[in-house]
Amino acid sequence: MPTLLDSFQLKGLQLKNRIVMPPMCQYSVMAKDGKPNDWHYTHYTSRAVGGAGLIIMEMTDVDPDGRITDYDLGLWSDEQIPAFKRIVESCQAYGAKVGIQIAHAGRKAEDAEVPVSSSAIQFSEDYKQPRELTTDEVKEMVGKFESAFKRALEAGVDVIEIHAAHGYLIHQFQSPLTNKREDVYGQDRSLFGVEIVKAARRVMPESMPLIMRISAVEYADGGYDLPYSIELAKRFQEAGVDIFHVSSGGEGTKGPASAGPGYQLDLAKEIKGALNIPTIAVGRMEDIQLSDEAVREGKADLVAVGRGMLRNPYWANEASIALGGKPLTPKPVAAAYSIR
Ligand SMILES: Cc1cc2nc3c(=O)[nH]c(=O)nc-3n(C[C@H](O)[C@H](O)[C@H](O)COP(=O)(O)O)c2cc1C
Repeated sequence: MPTLLDSFQLKGLQLKNRIVMPPMCQYSVMAKDGKPNDWHYTHYTSRAVGGAGLIIMEMTDVDPDGRITDYDLGLWSDEQIPAFKRIVESCQAYGAKVGIQIAHAGRKAEDAEVPVSSSAIQFSEDYKQPRELTTDEVKEMVGKFESAFKRALEAGVDVIEIHAAHGYLIHQFQSPLTNKREDVYGQDRSLFGVEIVKAARRVMPESMPLIMRISAVEYADGGYDLPYSIELAKRFQEAGVDIFHVSSGGEGTKGPASAGPGYQLDLAKEIKGALNIPTIAVGRMEDIQLSDEAVREGKADLVAVGRGMLRNPYWANEASIALGGKPLTPKPVAAAYSIR
């Protein structure tokens, strides 16, 4: 079995190690018009310098009204491409591969005048009442995802992640709690996600793997369980997903009973086992031994460390040193380790 520090190859994607920075919105730092700014540039470049094998840029929306707040990133216009390209190229220059998470917040879009969703069901009393997308609008939405995928490719990303988790629009369509539609997208709750996967595959090079982030279980009363999400994931795999990034929840205000170290790791293991597909484990994986064991024991192929990398941009480098590997940082920083 490989270790956390071993390289990873899938199709044309080659990662120098199995350490992933997962998508994390920086929306409080006021991106304007969906464009990343100097904060985002520094934020992502620092984690590339810190040695992460793969950096997945934060939730980036296909429509202005698909943003959680107006400070989110977006790729609904060609004008947004250069600001992303600058960051992608900078991270790649330090040896990281770069992905981007493409999304729509649906009923969780807080600044949209009237948010849209699969059905007109409010997230909570604190959120706006959404309206149900018409069947034609759902088809148009698939087109918006396709255009955003093309723009991400123009920005030079190595991989694309579709956000089908955390109670956002794709998740809203796939959950029986939020999809009460009577058209084809209600008869088959996976259809919207499947069409988005197919749209990605239409525009992506064959050699580029496609990642999908899913919530493997819901925590709300009556929410779906793991056998349900495994069936969903099979449909997405058939449509062209190569890697699942396994998270949970977000459909309501309840979370897991306990969110301790590795709290979602078994979900990644189950999906990997059921579908025989690579997975990324995420969720309190910052304990270096736990991360390494997850890969060594074949529970996941890659490990994402979110808050741990927010606290310490050089987490990957620290993990490498702790596991007996080489410094992952460029020479001027690596020199700091030779004086021990
Ligand atoms: C500040 C912050 C922003 C986040 N933004 C996103 C996001 O844009 N997309 C997403 O799928 N998850 C997002 N997440 C969830 C993380 O990707 C990750 O799944 C979660 O923090 C659990 O991993 P951790 O315990 O290593 O932090 C965010 C988390 C944090 C802390």
